[in-house]
Amino acid sequence: TGAFTYDPGFTSTGSCESKITYIDGDEGVLLHRGYPIGQLAEQSSFMEVCYLLLNGELPNQGELDTFTRTISRHTMLHEQLATFYRGFRRDAHPMAVMCGVVGALSAFYHDSTDITDPQQRMIASHRLIAKMPTIAAMAYKYAVGQPFLYPDNSLSYAGNFLRMTFGVPAEPYEVNPIVEKAMDRIFILHADHEQNASTSTVRLAGSSGANPFACIAAGIACLWGPAHGGANEAALNMLREIGRPERIPEYIARAKDKNDPFRLMGFGHRVYKNYDPRATVMQKTVREVFAALKVSDPVFDVALQLEEMALNDSYFVEKKLFPNVDFYSGVILSAIGFPTSMFTALFALARTVGWIAQWNEMITDPDQKIGRPRQLYTGPTQRDYVPIGQR
Ligand code: CMC
Repeated sequence: TGAFTYDPGFTSTGSCESKITYIDGDEGVLLHRGYPIGQLAEQSSFMEVCYLLLNGELPNQGELDTFTRTISRHTMLHEQLATFYRGFRRDAHPMAVMCGVVGALSAFYHDSTDITDPQQRMIASHRLIAKMPTIAAMAYKYAVGQPFLYPDNSLSYAGNFLRMTFGVPAEPYEVNPIVEKAMDRIFILHADHEQNASTSTVRLAGSSGANPFACIAAGIACLWGPAHGGANEAALNMLREIGRPERIPEYIARAKDKNDPFRLMGFGHRVYKNYDPRATVMQKTVREVFAALKVSDPVFDVALQLEEMALNDSYFVEKKLFPNVDFYSGVILSAIGFPTSMFTALFALARTVGWIAQWNEMITDPDQKIGRPRQLYTGPTQRDYVPIGQR
């Protein structure tokens, strides 16, 4: 059966070659196709970053316009999918609905499931990026009992998503440009993160030749967990539970207590042993959104003070635990008006481009094989079957 390395959690296993994203966890560096995340978040747009991740280079104006138009063409969902939503309970978690609806896409778009055809792979990629805001907004609308809104392709990617989520047919919806910019930036900050659990799931699912819609549904399922994308929801819930700065020491003590399973949500990372560069931009964006909307939230002060106390505590210093992307994102999303249950759905929306870029890279990799880890068997050795009457 051959020798293999036992590596639980794949902490020291490189599963693929990739040209998409580079992380130096000790230095807190994140580059997409070589470009630092801070520069992309401050100066680029999500559409441009999507093009970059998919194609390897930043687009010129003509390429960006064509790409944006192509994505716009695919924003509508098959009308019958609206009926599919109605099969869910109204109180279903949006991520449960997302797993179901995205998994069902391959039942609707048969003409983009042949993974051997580059044209079909491209159309599937565009469809997924284009439809995800519609799917996520519809999950929200279904939960709150408001009518689904069709996409408006005269708006930006982020603006259209905000309108489909918060708009109602009864009155016009004005997209607030500051909120639109913040939304776009949040999408950029979540766009890709090399071989994290959900991306590895997408690659593993795809390695068997499964169609891209099925693979992205698998990624969404993996992302949902609180150790991964579900941490943005868990982090805000935690900050709200803490509620007042005076209660922070109690929670820090709990996070350090090995007999208590509690962890500081939005803190720590498998790869970053330094400040997560996405958290830096996220914290700055909170201030901008609060100023623009003329709002504040005591939870932000709790977050800032929790960060300061943790970063001065030997436990967190020694274990190199810093705030990650999920620590501040919930504060902004909440200020914009999203309920916590939508946070991970937004992460899924934005990560779809990373998943599909990684999936395309895998499919075209000449070294690609089915992903099939081995195991260290620790069960019983061979024994004889005992008939039920003799057990
Ligand atoms: N609070 C308290 N202690 C922690 C935390 C935390 N948030 N994170 C790690 N530790 C401790 C952990 O108990 C362990 O201690 P010891 O060595 O004494 O047993 C040590 O630090 C290393 O932790 P680990 O679980 O072995 O590290 P990992 O690389 O397997 O886990 C992680 C990484 C992100 C799952 C973990 O830090 C965590 O659970 N954080 C909270 C959830 C979270 O914020 N997740 C979002 C990750 S970033 C967004 C994304 O990519 O999805």
